[in-house]
Amino acid sequence: MKRREAIELPAEEIEHQRVLMREFAALPDRPRTYCVVTYGCQMNAHDSETLEGMLSEMGMEKAESRETADFVIFNTCCVRDNAQRRALGNVVWLKELKKTRPELMVAVCGCMMQQPGMGEQILKQYPFVDLAFGTHNLYRFAQLMLQAVKSRRRVVEVLQEDEGSIPEELPVRRSSPYHAYITIMYGCNNFCSYCIVPYVRGRERSRASARILEEARMLHEQGVKEIMLLGQNVNSYGLDAEGELSFAQLLARLDEVGIERIRFMTSHPKDISDELIDVIAASRHICHALHLPVQHGNNRILQSMNRRYTRERYLERVAAIRAKVPDMSLTTDLIVGYPGESEEEFEDTCSLVSEVGYDSAFTFIYSPRVGTRAGDMPDQIPEEVSSRRIQKLIAIQKEITHRRYAGYIGQVHSVLVEEASKRDEHQMAGKNEYNITVNFPGTAELIGQIVRVRITSAGESTLRGERV
Ligand code: SAH
Ligand code: SF4
Ligand code: F3S
Repeated sequence: MKRREAIELPAEEIEHQRVLMREFAALPDRPRTYCVVTYGCQMNAHDSETLEGMLSEMGMEKAESRETADFVIFNTCCVRDNAQRRALGNVVWLKELKKTRPELMVAVCGCMMQQPGMGEQILKQYPFVDLAFGTHNLYRFAQLMLQAVKSRRRVVEVLQEDEGSIPEELPVRRSSPYHAYITIMYGCNNFCSYCIVPYVRGRERSRASARILEEARMLHEQGVKEIMLLGQNVNSYGLDAEGELSFAQLLARLDEVGIERIRFMTSHPKDISDELIDVIAASRHICHALHLPVQHGNNRILQSMNRRYTRERYLERVAAIRAKVPDMSLTTDLIVGYPGESEEEFEDTCSLVSEVGYDSAFTFIYSPRVGTRAGDMPDQIPEEVSSRRIQKLIAIQKEITHRRYAGYIGQVHSVLVEEASKRDEHQMAGKNEYNITVNFPGTAELIGQIVRVRITSAGESTLRGERV
């Protein structure tokens, strides 16, 4: 276990970076407008908010569109092959744009860059990319930009450090005034056999609880109604730092801040403690919505995946949650076509999904990732088999979602109003406490407020209601 000072970057380093941001702003010959294109999970979305915060401090403004920006940066994901291909496809699209606008600056960052050999590949195959960096040196963005603009040379910097550090006090430009992300921990130590995240995000590092609480209080003062705590495995919060609060303790303290809604993701099923369930049950502000990725329903596969729970243990945890929080809405992630998955083993995932009754599920076809243990396994499942299986699983979950959503009809939910419907300005849309989109007739003044809505009907992925 480490002492806190060993994990946080020195304040002087961040101060130095902020000086460089201002130095960049003073350059006569620099891009004026930017566009940040984000792929992947909420971590990346929040990293992009930090990029935008830094870009603002560097004197740049958000462009009207990607086509008109002087500077375009891609914050990439590599969790599955299609995520990576989508990102690269769009980078290549800029190559054409750059032919007509040679002053356009292009950068690539994020998880994809952090893979071994990526830096060299970008240098060789993507000569129109001006700047590339990984996840561990995001905080050095201004420095790297200065270098690229001043030297008029390409800059590629990917730090191959396993450990990683925590940058505090970087500027952030949040995308919404009503809900906000708060990172509580970085990295992942779990090494699920299929997953690249531990390789590209480094080891688990928890932010100091005092900093998290301070950030939450500040957001509350600013009028934020909902916070989402982020980490690849939030249940391990604090385990890496001496004397730190546990995740359950942190939640209990955050509940006292007064923000109306607290959400968190992602929870690893292996360490959903009774203490955590009790804190949720007793809290006033923690939403009764839990994303609890199970990945698979078969014990042999769960073991091969290194998930460190069995089907029985998972179901026992679900029962323990529902015993204390009966209205808990559960959602999950599922993988089909893991190497060696037999038809019977796949059926175990189908039956588990029916047994739990998730409100919704993200289903993924297994995608081999270079460097992971499963990536080298024999018996990779042919695409057509995986496709058939995922279709079946999606159909099963669709039925269950339909049934669960129908069960909400007649209930009164609180809805944080986010926007007017794109099709009809008299229809408002927002999320209920279960994180399900609810549409209802209303006016734009309601945006940003939490209102009471009686659910009157259920669609495939949304609910409909009217204000009470
Ligand atoms: N830390 C989170 C999830 C991170 S990635 C957790 O542990 O739950 C989000 C989801 O992507 C995972 O839950 C998993 O379902 C899926 N995923 C990760 N690696 C994958 C791979 N190689 N192929 C297919 N799906 C994958
Ligand atoms: Fe990947 Fe597993 Fe870590 Fe989630 S817990 S990020 S699936 S290694
Ligand atoms: Fe993708 Fe990186 Fe998130 S690989 S899922 S953006 S942590």
